[in-house]
Amino acid sequence: MDVIEIRESLPGDQGAVLALYPRAFPEEELRPTVTALLDETDGVISLVALSGDLVVGHALFTDCSVEGSDWRIALLGPLCVDPDHQRNGIGQALIREGIACMGMRGTALICVLGDPGYYGRSGFLPERRISTPYPIPEEWQDAWQSVSAGEDVDGPKGRMIVPAPWRDPKLWSE
Ligand SMILES: CC(C)(COP(=O)(O)OP(=O)(O)OC[C@H]1O[C@@H](n2cnc3c(N)ncnc32)[C@H](O)[C@@H]1OP(=O)(O)O)[C@@H](O)C(=O)NCCC(=O)NCCS
Repeated sequence: MDVIEIRESLPGDQGAVLALYPRAFPEEELRPTVTALLDETDGVISLVALSGDLVVGHALFTDCSVEGSDWRIALLGPLCVDPDHQRNGIGQALIREGIACMGMRGTALICVLGDPGYYGRSGFLPERRISTPYPIPEEWQDAWQSVSAGEDVDGPKGRMIVPAPWRDPKLWSE
């Protein structure tokens, strides 16, 4: 079992973070998106999971807004754990830490487009009030999920507005 430390990433972690992605996503090239998100000067929380000195997991949480409202929401993604370290609770620990972090920043809700079988374990439920910034395939409707990061209030409703690195319709449909 890994002993894991979760912390915000430092500029010096970028090489190790980017090296995780082809290992965790062999059929998807996410490094340009991850690099663009890491280059954002604010509004992005980048968390790494460390086993000793080794970066074995990474998660990004991006500040977003809701069209026509003042609500602050966030988008989780990508999330990855090195295949040699998967099934040790690292993914869930990164999600937990990110939710806590975003809650402290005044974020109401965290959305994700991902497998409900996985994210449901961390409290995510299908999201129907916030719509995705770009259309997603019909069969992915249940993959669009959210979890509250703060008080459970009658929260935001409307279309999610994302910063530049997420403004590519292909990221939402392929
Ligand atoms: C998904 C991922 C981040 C999980 O990381 P992890 O550290 O292994 O996850 P955890 O240890 O917190 O949870 C593991 C559990 O989730 C399950 N799980 C993993 N992916 C799952 C999925 N897509 N659907 C349902 N369950 C899933 C595992 O089978 C395991 O179950 P078990 O504890 O009953 O054995 C990791 O497998 C990964 O990087 N995968 C490739 C990239 C990816 O798909 N990222 C998510 C993009 S939406």
